[in-house]
Amino acid sequence: MTTPLGRLHQDDCITTMRSLDAETVDLAFADPPFNLGKQYNSRINDQRAEDEYLDWCRTWLDEMVRVLKPGGSLFLWNLPKWNLPLGAHLGRSLTFRHWITVDIKYSLPIPKRLYPSHYSLLYFIKGDRPAIFHPDRLPVTCCRHCGGELRDYGGYKDKMNPAGVSLTDVWTDIPPVRHSKYKKWEANGLALKLLDRVLTMASDPGSLVLDPFGGSGTTYVAAELTGRRWIGSDLHCGAIVERFANLDDDRRHLAEIHANKNVLFTRADVDRRRKSGKPLSKYYRIPDDDAEPDAAPAE
Ligand SMILES: C[S@@+](CC[C@H](N)C(=O)[O-])C[C@H]1O[C@@H](n2cnc3c(N)ncnc32)[C@H](O)[C@@H]1O
Repeated sequence: MTTPLGRLHQDDCITTMRSLDAETVDLAFADPPFNLGKQYNSRINDQRAEDEYLDWCRTWLDEMVRVLKPGGSLFLWNLPKWNLPLGAHLGRSLTFRHWITVDIKYSLPIPKRLYPSHYSLLYFIKGDRPAIFHPDRLPVTCCRHCGGELRDYGGYKDKMNPAGVSLTDVWTDIPPVRHSKYKKWEANGLALKLLDRVLTMASDPGSLVLDPFGGSGTTYVAAELTGRRWIGSDLHCGAIVERFANLDDDRRHLAEIHANKNVLFTRADVDRRRKSGKPLSKYYRIPDDDAEPDAAPAE
């Protein structure tokens, strides 16, 4: 499939990447099968011996590294168990930036173990410094009922950046699956919010984004709707082709995501605060230009 900005190969990811020229990709993101014995439409073997799985991962990771431009960014989404050895492998050719913890519960509690509650998102770059880095800022986390801040910002409230709070390496606001309205695509799909954040951070409109494991095409949708060029592959592309036939829901969802980032309070929290009589500082920027901030500082 081709789109105005992208190209999808129904093929093995290693074959696809070997057809690409070296150092041409600005951002590479991968969300491979986790070797948990899941059933995929492509009927791949998702239950290999550990060494075999890791060898396979190293082979496609090496291809991702080869096609990455100097200064380009590579993100690897996986369970901590796999990202530990795979991160060590990537560290031989790339520069480590972050182990981003994405707080999502993904299994039932396991007897005699801690409850697994985060995915690992590894972030590496080729060379010493990233060519592109502009992380989103996030709104203050507020009570869903009264709109009050859940964290005490003490006397620093009026010193806070009106564009929101700095992004940390622990992400607690990523939903486990897409918004229920957009859940019709096959399971294993990541949230559009996650891919929007990654693409915003490490690519610009016009950049080239690579994702070797298409799944339901979330990376490609995020790229297409934000003006990035993209290349992808999957052994079974039906879900992606179907999704791209009508991107209206994704477009609406992305607009919602964009309206609620790089602001200190979301529109919904501004409304909640107004209703419960919580003052908005004159320093707070609120999402809607025509809504006036209260004159009184929030002391
Ligand atoms: C976890 S899913 C990716 C989900 C995707 N990130 C999304 O948000 O929709 C992994 C995908 O990798 C595909 N896959 C597995 N082995 C592959 C291979 N050798 N080449 C290309 N795709 C492969 C599977 O068919 C599956 O769709």
